[in-house]
Amino acid sequence: MAEPLPRQGQPLATLFAELEQVIVPNSTHTAHPRFLPYVQPSPNALSPYADHVAATLNQNCNLWPLSPAANAVEQVVLRWFADLFGLPASTGGILTSGGSMANFVALTAARDHALGETARTEGLQSSRPPLVLYTSEETHSSIAKAVSMLGLGTRYLRHIPTDEHFRIRLDLLAQAVAEDRAAGLNPFCVVGSAGTVTTGATDPLEALAHFCRQHRLWLHIDGAYGALAALSPRFQPSLAALALADSVSLDPHKFLFCAYEAGCVLVRDRQHLHHAFHAHPSYLTMSEDPDFVDFANHGPQLSRAFKALKVWWSLKHFGADAYAQVIEQMHDLAVYMAEQVLHRPAFELLAPVVFNCVCFRLSALDAAANRRVLTALLDSGTAFLGPASVKDTTGLRACFMNLRTTRADIDRILDHLEHLASQPGW
Ligand SMILES: Cc1ncc(COP(=O)(O)O)c(C=O)c1O
Repeated sequence: MAEPLPRQGQPLATLFAELEQVIVPNSTHTAHPRFLPYVQPSPNALSPYADHVAATLNQNCNLWPLSPAANAVEQVVLRWFADLFGLPASTGGILTSGGSMANFVALTAARDHALGETARTEGLQSSRPPLVLYTSEETHSSIAKAVSMLGLGTRYLRHIPTDEHFRIRLDLLAQAVAEDRAAGLNPFCVVGSAGTVTTGATDPLEALAHFCRQHRLWLHIDGAYGALAALSPRFQPSLAALALADSVSLDPHKFLFCAYEAGCVLVRDRQHLHHAFHAHPSYLTMSEDPDFVDFANHGPQLSRAFKALKVWWSLKHFGADAYAQVIEQMHDLAVYMAEQVLHRPAFELLAPVVFNCVCFRLSALDAAANRRVLTALLDSGTAFLGPASVKDTTGLRACFMNLRTTRADIDRILDHLEHLASQPGW
């Protein structure tokens, strides 16, 4: 594809031919029913169309006069999410590019809240005890990324061990906070997970919330993976304590099956978002209106696309009940696969199935061979699974997010893995 910058335009027919011959066949076919490596769904059919409409309207979702209808739509979906989790009327939020950016926005608000009035002017430059935050060893890497981007230093991010269900150990969390306080440090935030990236575990959110309230710590819940499971009665009880969080991340481009990109962060007191992100340069002065939110003051971006349209349409067109059914269907597939894994001696299950993913390994092969089999499975064109490292044991992971995946697909994957593993020379 290397070519000099075209000085003259080329006909659309050339571009479309290239699209057909080069781009499409060399794209990862994420809608394939045996594409199961990550928390990555096939998009619902409506959301790419919504993106097309949104791009054509080309609204700039920064200040309300540049995007009044989009502004109202974004407020509606934010309210739906806040209501789903039981968060109060004071809640604010913003749609983001994804869960990583949602976590970054939430931790910025948490940091600036901890630093107080002078957060914006002094930053971390004036001398004070270092801020410390806590999360589990199962947390997503976007938390450490946010911590380093925020200048907090990853050595002040404590990764607390988890129990046998991959949930943060509250006793060890309490111990770590006490030790840091005794050492003169300044604990300020705990990041819990609603759906850890490897096994889908959910931390004991209610107990975490009580602990945070008691110790005056900000509770952020990374629900990029699992918070939207609150749509399903099967999972809602374990997520009821989202209502107690100071901030929550969620990803419509995961369990709402929206096309990339669509993440979201909610902050219990919207003033904290405003405190962290407001900017009022003279060249952006426009009329304010209490019915609208200037989203430029709720996040790091100025120019922003109309992502809310695909989220709004997805929920309106399919309805929450359809999502509940699909989330449960994905969980059922994971449970079926785990049962098969347990029945076949070639495999070992690495973690109990609590959500829509299965971590397992080929029991006769070592870690490196398990990795090689994963690659061979992909090279054979049978399936795309992901790697898993569960309490230092290496294996494979299947994450169900495709409406067309069936039990027959699972059988086929396991048959093929058994066949591969039976070959000599791994
Ligand atoms: C628990 C968790 N947090 C954060 C993220 C990052 O989300 P994104 O890829 O939308 O930035 C993921 C992605 O899978 C995740 O599973």
